[in-house]
Parts: sequence; C-alpha cells; structure tokens
Amino acid sequence: MRNMTEAELTEVVLQRYQDTPDPRLREILQSLIRHLHAFVRDVRLTEEEWLRGILYLTAVGQISDDKRQEMILLSDNVGVSMLVNMVSAGVAQAATESTVVGPFYVPGTPERQWGESIQQLPCDDAPLFVRGRVLDLAGEPVADAQIEVWQTNSNGMYDIQDPEQPEHNLRGWYRVNADGEFLVRTVRPVRYPIPTDGPIGELLNATSRHPWRPAHLHVKVTAAGCKPLVTHIFDAEDPYLDSDVVFAVKQSLVRKFEPVTASNSSREYGISGPCLELRYDFTIERTMPAG
Ligand code: BEZ
Ligand code: FE
Repeated sequence: MRNMTEAELTEVVLQRYQDTPDPRLREILQSLIRHLHAFVRDVRLTEEEWLRGILYLTAVGQISDDKRQEMILLSDNVGVSMLVNMVSAGVAQAATESTVVGPFYVPGTPERQWGESIQQLPCDDAPLFVRGRVLDLAGEPVADAQIEVWQTNSNGMYDIQDPEQPEHNLRGWYRVNADGEFLVRTVRPVRYPIPTDGPIGELLNATSRHPWRPAHLHVKVTAAGCKPLVTHIFDAEDPYLDSDVVFAVKQSLVRKFEPVTASNSSREYGISGPCLELRYDFTIERTMPAG
C-alpha cells in the first residue's frame, strides 16, 4: 500500500459516501466534501487554524439555546442565508420578494384583532398603521390568509432578548378579511445592531464590519394552498440600507412610512394625534387552485 495524494484522498472519501440511499442527501454531502477539501487545499489550512475553526463553531453552538440562535446568525453573516433564499426562491416574478427569516422568529405568537397594536408597552411613538391586501398572482384576494409580523422595540431588542419586554411584545398575526385586507398597528421600526457579545461579534471585530441592520418590519404571509412568504419591509429613510450586515435588503421591499395628519388619523384610524401609514399589498403564489 502507498500513501494517497491529496486528490486521491478526496476521491476515496467521496467513494465512501457513494452508497448513501437518499440521492439528494448523497448529492449534498458529496458536494460539501468536495468543496471543503478544495477549500483546505486552496488556503493550505494548518492544523492550528482548523482547530481554531472547530473551537469557533463549538462556541457558536454553545451560546445557542431556545432564545438565541447564533448558528443562524453565522449563516446570515457569511451571506449563506441570503444565498439560499436566492437559489431556492423559485417564486413567480410577480410575487412579493422574500428575504431571510433571521434568528428572532418565534412560532406560536398570539392572534391580533383588526387594527390591534402589537406594541404592548406604553410608548410615546406615533402609531404606524400598515394596511393593504393579500393577493394571488391573478390579483384576486386570498381571503383566508394570515399575516404575521415581528420587530424590535425602540431599544433595538426583540422581546426574547430583553427581560423588560412582555412575552410576544411587538409580535402577532392577523387574519385578513373576505377582501384579503388587513390592518396592522405597530410603531416605526428602528435600526439595530445584531448581537455582538458572542462569536459573531468576534467575527465582526476581526473583519472590521459594522453590526447594523436597517430598520425593518418582519412579515410572514401564509394561506392554505399557497407558498408561504417570509419577507421584510425596510424603512426607505434608513442609512444602512446599502450595508445591511446580513445582506438581506431587496429594492422592492424598501418603502417610505408616510406621515398622516391628526385629522386624517382620526378619520381613518379613530385615534387622536398624527400617525404614520404604509399601504402595502402582498402577492403570494397559489400551489393549488382557490377552493
Ligand atoms: C433580524 O432581522 O431579525 C435578523 C436577521 C438576520 C440576522 C440577525 C437579525
Ligand atoms: Fe429583524
């Protein structure tokens, strides 16, 4: 027996995975191995560097729990979440564009009634009303759609990061009415830094990158027989739109929150004082004909 060359090692490893029964799993694993081996050869990785990488990934895992998902944050920070979003989108051109989910989505949030505020804390900010319709590609209302929203408080933290906020603060989902219309009440979202007190902060420091996400509202739209849509609405006035730390901005998702005068607020929304308004229709794709 003779020693293998670098290239032969790669081939032998790939061969060992050849009998993986699930063809898609086989394809993914073999491609991953091929690219990992190519990467090691490309940078001539040392054993110290490899160990450092392993310890880094260990730390990413160890700091994660049911409230903190540092692994998603890592994927977001190297642009892989956004790349997966791009390659797997496969959505019709006319549908609303999607973007990353991020690590702060929480399933099982409460239902909110028409126009009910998701801000559960006393707040001096002017209300922001987001109103519009959920439509299919033919422009017909999707009457059984649900629209779920989540965002940070004005301190830039999600409820699950911040013991001062009640559970499910600034989260919730709304049913649309028979015309596919919804009315969300919230407050203007703020820009915020992603968590920098863990391994991702170390990565940002080591690479001289800032931690900011431009102000945004997360939206998930679901309906029976339709492709779910996960997206953001970004504030057009934010200075970080061009340098989002997780590369998730798409031009079609950028909108201006329009000021509404006190008298119009009172007429349209039954509140005293001025507010902000965004009119936004979401278009989703049916996978089954409307029933
Ligand atoms: C977010 O917008 O919640 C988010 C997305 C990716 C990384 C960090 C935060
Ligand atoms: Fe966010």
